[in-house]
Amino acid sequence: MNTRTSSMIAMTVVGILIFVFGCSLASIAGVQTEEPSTQQNSDLMARRVINFNRDWKFTKGSHQGAEALEFDDSAWQAVRLPHDWAIAGPFNAEENGYAGKLPWRGIGWYRKTFTLDKADEGKRLYFDFDGVMAFPKVYVNGQLAGEWDYGYMSFRVDATPYVKFGKANVIAVRVDTRRHGTRWYPGAGIYRKVTMTICEPVHVAHWATFVTTPEVSDTSATVRVCSTVENHLDTESQVTVDVVLQGPDGQVAAMGGKGDTVPAGSSSLSGKREFDLSLKVTNPQRWNITSPKLYTAKTIVRMGGKIVDMDVTTFGIRTFRLTADDGFHLNGRRVQLYGVNLHHDHGPLGAAFYTRAMERQLEIMRDMGVNAIRTSHNPPAPELLDLCDRMGLVVWDECFDKWDDKAGRIKGEPPLEEYGEKQIRNFVMRDRNHPCVVMWSIGNEIGNQPYDKEGKSPQRVKFMSDFVRKYDPTRPVGMACHIPNTVDEPILDALDFTGWNYMRRYARYRQSYPDKPIIYSESASTLSTRGFYEFPLPVRKTDFSQKQNQVDSYDLNAASWSDISDAEFQLMEDDNFVAGEFVWTGFDYLGEPMPFVQEARSSYFGIVDLCGIPKDRFYLYRSYWRPDMMTVHILPHWNWPNRIGQNVPVFVYTNGDSAELFLNGKSLGKRTKGVLPEKPVNFAQGGYATASSVEASNIAANANDANNSTRWCAANADANQWWQVDLGEVRPVKYLAIDFEKEEKNYGYQIKASTDASSWQTIATKSTSRYPRWGGPTQIFHEVDANDRYLRIEFTELQQGTWASIREFEAYPEKVESDYYTVTYKYRLRWNDVIYEPGELKAIAYKDGKEIGQAIMRTAGEPAAIRLTSDRKELQATGEDLCYILVEALDDKGTLCPLANNLIRFKIDGPAEIAGVGNGNPLSLEPFQAGYRKLFSGKAMLILRTIEGKIGQVRVTAGSDGLRPAEVTVQCR
Ligand code: GAL
Repeated sequence: MNTRTSSMIAMTVVGILIFVFGCSLASIAGVQTEEPSTQQNSDLMARRVINFNRDWKFTKGSHQGAEALEFDDSAWQAVRLPHDWAIAGPFNAEENGYAGKLPWRGIGWYRKTFTLDKADEGKRLYFDFDGVMAFPKVYVNGQLAGEWDYGYMSFRVDATPYVKFGKANVIAVRVDTRRHGTRWYPGAGIYRKVTMTICEPVHVAHWATFVTTPEVSDTSATVRVCSTVENHLDTESQVTVDVVLQGPDGQVAAMGGKGDTVPAGSSSLSGKREFDLSLKVTNPQRWNITSPKLYTAKTIVRMGGKIVDMDVTTFGIRTFRLTADDGFHLNGRRVQLYGVNLHHDHGPLGAAFYTRAMERQLEIMRDMGVNAIRTSHNPPAPELLDLCDRMGLVVWDECFDKWDDKAGRIKGEPPLEEYGEKQIRNFVMRDRNHPCVVMWSIGNEIGNQPYDKEGKSPQRVKFMSDFVRKYDPTRPVGMACHIPNTVDEPILDALDFTGWNYMRRYARYRQSYPDKPIIYSESASTLSTRGFYEFPLPVRKTDFSQKQNQVDSYDLNAASWSDISDAEFQLMEDDNFVAGEFVWTGFDYLGEPMPFVQEARSSYFGIVDLCGIPKDRFYLYRSYWRPDMMTVHILPHWNWPNRIGQNVPVFVYTNGDSAELFLNGKSLGKRTKGVLPEKPVNFAQGGYATASSVEASNIAANANDANNSTRWCAANADANQWWQVDLGEVRPVKYLAIDFEKEEKNYGYQIKASTDASSWQTIATKSTSRYPRWGGPTQIFHEVDANDRYLRIEFTELQQGTWASIREFEAYPEKVESDYYTVTYKYRLRWNDVIYEPGELKAIAYKDGKEIGQAIMRTAGEPAAIRLTSDRKELQATGEDLCYILVEALDDKGTLCPLANNLIRFKIDGPAEIAGVGNGNPLSLEPFQAGYRKLFSGKAMLILRTIEGKIGQVRVTAGSDGLRPAEVTVQCR
């Protein structure tokens, strides 16, 4: 029989099987929650993928002989995966907060005993780990069966030579995080799922199937399925490989097959045969952000008429382009990327990965208008990509943060070439079929060689990106950069595009590489604490509250190297060649608590807090990213008993273009986006300016021409330079605003005032500073008290590379707001001069003159009752399903109490357990695993986890001294 006839017959048989047993075929390859105890339907069960998460034993520390079959682990703790040993705490208050203050450093051991059926003798047995932090060594029955280094990478261990069928076996995993480098909380242990796969000796190789769609039109698509069959028998095998494509409706969309021989292999080495089939799908349904249609490709391997393996691959049919001049196009239409960076942890759950926790994160982000995720800075759990496939979110999949010990390379070993290919192979082969993945990243913020020994050079960037292309030639390869002058050397030449973090650093790349696309890989790095406000409002983006180690939530603060959200909105509008922004970050995460790195344990960067409760900024993004969705959000809260009669500014975030604000029924006026408040007169503007020296056309008058794109610059780099302005007459100068060419930390000076330009008095002085370490504001403000005609700035000290140079020098009779915040009037509505009185604030928002919605903020009384709100009513009794219950304090009228910090105790009756508790306070060192939690700004979160196989009603009761208790029930099925 020739190959063609055999494959036709095979096609027919498979076709019949699909039509008759469509459902059972699908379940053959599905992940089962049961572990096999009997050999059920072994003929049909060509491949069994078994969830291997339950019944592990765990302990910390070094244990001699713990890998041995007979080792006594009875005293060890019983755990279920996913497991992050460090999240249980305790926090170490002394440690800085960069890695979360949690005890993640150390050695840990896991063991699990399992029995294999005698009837499976002769089959292959593999363990697949989705992520183990870090340097896992996997022992099976006492023998080292496999190991890995990089804690974020999925890897497979072939346990076939070590297992015993018909007997008890032990898998032991030693984990060692001591040498793991990190810039955030990494977690510790087997924190993602483990599966055991049992299959025939002839089967589809791991991650070998690669589905691409080389031609796509409205009427047809070519679907190419390449795969490899591996043979562990010592004789060559005649096989047929049939591919069945199923459409989003579950119907067969196309099929085809091939027969061939697979060379003989051995137990340790397999013979391999590659297959390559192209099929035509008519009227393909596209994978899109708004309608993410998914197809599946079933690759069925048969020997002698019997199915020996089936590999199921989900894929999508879509086209996309990343362009240099017009951003990102999906299926022929430009899509502005509204992206967020997400770190891998899940707040109170730590690094432990639960699909539901991820799904909820993505739901919250999508609600805000997000359509793109960057997996900063590591390969995510594979389920994140499954979810993005289903939810229509595009993904920029990132492999590394740096290439040093943060990537698992200790002291630069092994060589980057070897290591890079090993990691990138798994990364790309695992993720390349996901339609959501549209770009790859080979790393984040990698320094340049030779300054950074483990940094990037033209050769290194080339071989890293070529490894990606070797395993997937269909998607563009980029990286996230942060050093603009990298483009002065050909370091980035090998990339298809680049991402740039913050402050329009892409400008130089744009000039050098006008034909390469750009992504704003990190934007904003705005900081805030949910529910925390402070007065007066910050004058500059880096003026952080010094009193409470929290960051004010008026959304006017950003890290020194970054900008507030509004500035980034404006930037993306101006630079529409950029594909879009990825905000740093969507969720708060454990670690990197800028600016309170010593005091806090989790970040302030998130648009939502560590528990997923929206901060004010959530509504700012939603109002802009989802213009068609009604958003009217008032801030701050309205409980200011100590500020009666004092100023409390009110902001409204709305998708409308204007709004009217009422306080206790009295109108405080209407505000319209784009309309700026009046500024007092700038005495310096247009006044006669002189300077010690002038460099070319950068004349003295440029520093007071009300245009900060022009500047005065001294002729040379001497510190002793001065600039002077004549205000025309004696003026009452109370406030100076100076905008320098570089960050103000670079300039040391004295400011002098005079009525006659001969006798001067010093009204302000400043020296240079090394801080902030990166970036910082260029503007500085001085409150002064002068009644003078002449103002003069004398430079006393300049940091290296800095020349005396001023963009704008302004002098006012009163305090003014920094020009930096002018942009906020375009995207938010601001009432800056509200005099506080308790009661009710109401905002009525309008769009094109029509009312679109209202919001009300009321002063709350004392906390009187608890309210519980669960995100779901029905849960699956899998042991891995979660329920998030929001806990709030209300006054006796049902108004949310924004200052409540009551301690709440939880009682759970029924088949569920507490997986974590939290409240979004970055300073809190209360345990994440406890039956109680203090409210923070009136709210907290309780996370329940189901118990495998236990169904029934769960009743959650929350109580607190002096508050009416609350109750909520959920069903586990
Ligand atoms: C970036 C870095 C991120 C994070 C962020 C905070 O430079 O890539 O990982 O540290 O800064 O703003």
